[in-house]
Amino acid sequence: MQKFEAFLIDNLPTSKSIHPTYEKALQEMLIAGGKRFRPALLLGVVGAYNTLMLEGARYAAYAVELLHTYSLIHDDLPAMDDSPLRRGKPTLHIVYDEVTAILVGDALNTYSFEVLSNAPFSDYTRVQLIRELATNGGLNGMVLGQAIDCYFENKPLPIKDVKILHTNKTAKLIAASLKMGAIIVGREELGKKLYDFGIKLGLLFQIQDDILDVTQSTEEAGKLTGNDEDKNSFVTLIGLDESIKEANTLADELEEELNSFDENLKNELLPLLTKYINRHSN
Ligand code: IPE
Ligand code: IPE
Ligand code: MG
Ligand code: MG
Ligand code: MG
Repeated sequence: MQKFEAFLIDNLPTSKSIHPTYEKALQEMLIAGGKRFRPALLLGVVGAYNTLMLEGARYAAYAVELLHTYSLIHDDLPAMDDSPLRRGKPTLHIVYDEVTAILVGDALNTYSFEVLSNAPFSDYTRVQLIRELATNGGLNGMVLGQAIDCYFENKPLPIKDVKILHTNKTAKLIAASLKMGAIIVGREELGKKLYDFGIKLGLLFQIQDDILDVTQSTEEAGKLTGNDEDKNSFVTLIGLDESIKEANTLADELEEELNSFDENLKNELLPLLTKYINRHSN
């Protein structure tokens, strides 16, 4: 992932304007880093089938990270989760103001599609990638999930609906990252299978995030924890122990499913999954 970080630094959003802080604000949350989980999934799939395509695939991996970073900046806004810390840094609405955080989010959202449109692939592949990111990150994906998440604050949902919420706000972008890798290497059937796998992985990822909200300190997490009391988080609804059980069940199923993928792909994905699966029991 070192090369990915270098690519990101080389391709940071820039702007030369009379605005004194806009450019710095645009770059701040990207440079602050994070786990880069979604780029690693996408590049893992590409690396399993065609290492020569890894260089071009970095455009797509970066596009996903840009969209994800925008979603975090907006997620932290006072009108949403009202969080002062992200990736170990004060959030943009704290450092600057709400206007800056809203507009930087908007800029990163559209910049992600600009980056994808410049990826060194055929027009056909580029359109497929743009569609995948838009479909899963937009009105019927992440944004829908965030809308449900915020609307139903202090209105407990049945667990089946929380799974729908988590699938939209988190799992679809994770599933899209895997599928975009398959699109790049021209494996349509694999893409479908990886998408389903990614939905389950993403659900687990969000359940773990809900667990970390009560098990990690703000310092450890680099973001405000203990912040989900009003939310339809797994822990709020079914408690920590049941949430851990649910996460373990999903993790077992995923490890089982991983065995049905071919050896190269398994070798790429397994280290990522063991790093991020069941972190709460480490
Ligand atoms: C946080 O995502 C928001 C969720 C969808 C749970 P990550 O846990 O991937 O955040 P970063 O990218 O590592 O900061
Ligand atoms: C946010 O979920 C998911 C996004 C689409 C950004 P959370 O609100 O639980 O994410 P954190 O805990 O603030 O990272
Ligand atoms: Mg949120
Ligand atoms: Mg949040
Ligand atoms: Mg959370």
